[in-house]
Amino acid sequence: MNNGLDDVLATETVLSDVDGAAGALIIRGRSLDELAGLARYEDVLALLLSGFFSDLPRPDRLGADLGSARQRVFSRLAAQDERLLRLPVTEAMRALLALIEDGDDLATALNLIAAPAVFTPALVRLKQGHAPIAPDPSAGHAKDVLRMLHGKESRDEEAAALDAYLVTVSDHGLNASTFAARVVASTQAGLTSAVIAGLCALKGPLHGGAPGPVLDMLDAIGHPEDAEAWLDGALDRGDRLMGFGHRIYKVRDPRADALMGAVRNLAAARRDNAGRFSLAESVEAAAIRILARRKPDRSLKTNVEFYTAVLLEALGFPRESFTSVFAMGRVGGWIGHAREQALYGRLIRPQSRYVGPRPDRAA
Ligand code: ACO
Repeated sequence: MNNGLDDVLATETVLSDVDGAAGALIIRGRSLDELAGLARYEDVLALLLSGFFSDLPRPDRLGADLGSARQRVFSRLAAQDERLLRLPVTEAMRALLALIEDGDDLATALNLIAAPAVFTPALVRLKQGHAPIAPDPSAGHAKDVLRMLHGKESRDEEAAALDAYLVTVSDHGLNASTFAARVVASTQAGLTSAVIAGLCALKGPLHGGAPGPVLDMLDAIGHPEDAEAWLDGALDRGDRLMGFGHRIYKVRDPRADALMGAVRNLAAARRDNAGRFSLAESVEAAAIRILARRKPDRSLKTNVEFYTAVLLEALGFPRESFTSVFAMGRVGGWIGHAREQALYGRLIRPQSRYVGPRPDRAA
């Protein structure tokens, strides 16, 4: 039995549509091309949350309310045990999210959206031996994240690149983490529980945990001319090439294009990172060639995680924080889906077929 539920239509949603054959993503009626690189994360949040909270402010107010939520959430860090803050970033994030009171209201939603944005830079700084930096509630969300990470104002192009990333990953149909969040929300457990479930599903290497290993792969390859031999060797060992293949997309993931564009713009604006970018392009081309040769019956193309790795590295996030940065964007989608499920859905309770032994009737 195929237990990946590939062909199961599990719900209807107004949030996003993933067309795997055409390589297209629609988020609340807008194509990804329309949003990535043009909209700020706050604008996409207004789309994702629209209709799910009776007191949702106008889109131009939402950014200010999110800024206040960043401040509220930051104040919780002070009381935390040192040992918790020194856990690996995703583990610490999971523990810190659990401190946000569960509920279904807008304040809970904004605290949860602010949490990865505030906690990720704070946890990274603590690991580097620096004190966390308090948020600036009047700043744009992406710009504030970079300020809290680096301790100085970022350039507009850097904030635009992070916005492009957060928008690009904000929602993506019924992926594993969103499904996990919806299952939890279907029990009416509350948004905090749903978001923690989403994060737990996201951290695995088959979902949101791939970009760190993508950079490990680029480091190990080192030079474009060594790509083919290294990739062939990895496949000979039975490894998967991180950043390639997708359950739904049988063509190039449109998010890979959006992020490649963001990496290119950033490299041009800063006049740096050209070597890393051209290594990534060569490795991508070699991987596509080799996967087509070795797995001709599969259509394994670049997925979102490949250029995520290059972009987040260029913005100065260490690789162990990548899953938390992914959560920083996807949390908007998780909350939209959790509210849609809680408001309009039923308890999710599929069935299983028992294939184990039965009691011996003769005994
Ligand atoms: N490298 C090498 N082979 C691969 C890859 C890959 N990246 N992806 C799939 N395959 C192969 C499998 O080995 C399998 O081959 P086989 O039938 O000859 O044994 C075949 O393709 C199908 O694999 P499945 O695991 O059944 O396909 P599934 O649809 O479940 O895979 C997944 C999707 C998990 C993303 C897979 O492509 C993968 O492991 N990729 C690498 C990890 C990665 O990049 N994850 C991020 C995904 S994007 C996201 O979630 C945000």
